Amino acid sequence: MSKAPLAAYPALRLRRLRQAEWIRRLVRETVLTPGDLIWSMVVHDGPEDEIAVASMPGAPRLSVKKAAEAAKRAARLGIPAIAVFPYIDGAKKDALGSSAADPDGLVSRAVRAMKDAAPEVGILCDVALDPFTDHGHDGLIQGGKIANDPTVERLVEQALVQAAAGCDILAPSDMMDGRIAALRTALERDGHQDVMIMSYAAKYASAFYGPYREAIGSGVLGSGPDANPTDKMTYQMDAGNTDEALREVAMDIAEGADMVMVKPGMPYLDIVRRVHEAFALPTFAFQVSGEYAMIMAAAANGWIAEDRAILESLQAFKRAGASGTLTYFAPRVAEMLG
Ligand code: PBG
Repeated sequence: MSKAPLAAYPALRLRRLRQAEWIRRLVRETVLTPGDLIWSMVVHDGPEDEIAVASMPGAPRLSVKKAAEAAKRAARLGIPAIAVFPYIDGAKKDALGSSAADPDGLVSRAVRAMKDAAPEVGILCDVALDPFTDHGHDGLIQGGKIANDPTVERLVEQALVQAAAGCDILAPSDMMDGRIAALRTALERDGHQDVMIMSYAAKYASAFYGPYREAIGSGVLGSGPDANPTDKMTYQMDAGNTDEALREVAMDIAEGADMVMVKPGMPYLDIVRRVHEAFALPTFAFQVSGEYAMIMAAAANGWIAEDRAILESLQAFKRAGASGTLTYFAPRVAEMLG
C-alpha cells in the first residue's frame, strides 16, 4: 500500500478507473497468461483414446498416444508443463504399491512419449503410492498404521524411475516426513542434479479429492460423495490449520525443495498468500478435481457462466501470490486466453 494520503470524495472517485475496458485493462494488477498453467492430466494403459470420467466432464483419462498429442497441444498453447497421474489396472495393485517403481510402467511410458513429442514442455510426476496400492493409501501399512520411513524408501525408488524416464519435476504428494531430503539425496547421488522438486508441502485432508479418486481408480477409500477426508488424516493436514502449513513448507525448503505447492486450491487461498509472503519462493496451487467438478456441475445446470467462472477461479490463484496453478482446465483456459 502506498503511504500517500488519500484524497477525499469527491476528488477521490475510485469508479473513474473502472469506466471503460481500456482503462480497466491498463490498471489491472493481475493478468492471467497460459504461462501460469500446469495441465493436470490422467493417463490410462488401454487402447481407447479417451475414457470419460463421470465426475469430471471434459477431463477424460487419455491413452499414452493421446497424452503425447496433448503434450504437442500444450506446446502450441504456451502451457509450460503437464502433471501426469496414472490410472492403474486393479490387477497391478498390491499392498506395497510394487508397480510404482516399474521402469516400464504406465507413468514411465507416458513421460517418454510426451517428452519425445514435445521436449520443450516440462513434465511433472506425482511421487505417491496411492494409484498403485490396493488399499488406496499413499503409504505402506504396518500394524494398522501408515509407516513413514518404509514409505519414504519406496517413494525414493519410484522417484528415481520417474527421473530416469525423463520427468523434469518430481512432485511428492504423499505427506510423509523426511521425503524431500531422501529424494534430494538420491537424485544427487544418481546424477539427477537438474531434476526439480515441487513438494506438495501443505496438502490438506480434503473432500475435494473425490472425483480424482474415481479418475485414477483409487475408489477403495471412497470416491465422489463417499470420499472421506478423515481417512488420510494421519498424514494429510487438518483443514483448521495455517501455522502448521508454514512449518511444513519450512521443513521441505530446508530439505531441498525447489518449489512448494498448496492443495486444494480455492478453499486454501489464505495459505497460498501466507506461504508466498513468508518464504518468497515459487509457490504453486492445485485446483483439484472437486473444484473442477463444482464449476462444471454448476455450469451444466445453467447456474453460472462457465468460461467466466473458470477464468475468475484461476485469476484468484495468481492474485493470491501463486506462481502457477495445476488445473484440469489448462487447455481450455489457454485457448480462451489465446
Ligand atoms: C494422492 C493425490 C491426490 C491428489 C493428487 N495426488 C488425492 C489424495 O490425496 O487422496 C488429488 C488431485 C485432485 O483431486 O485433483 N497422492
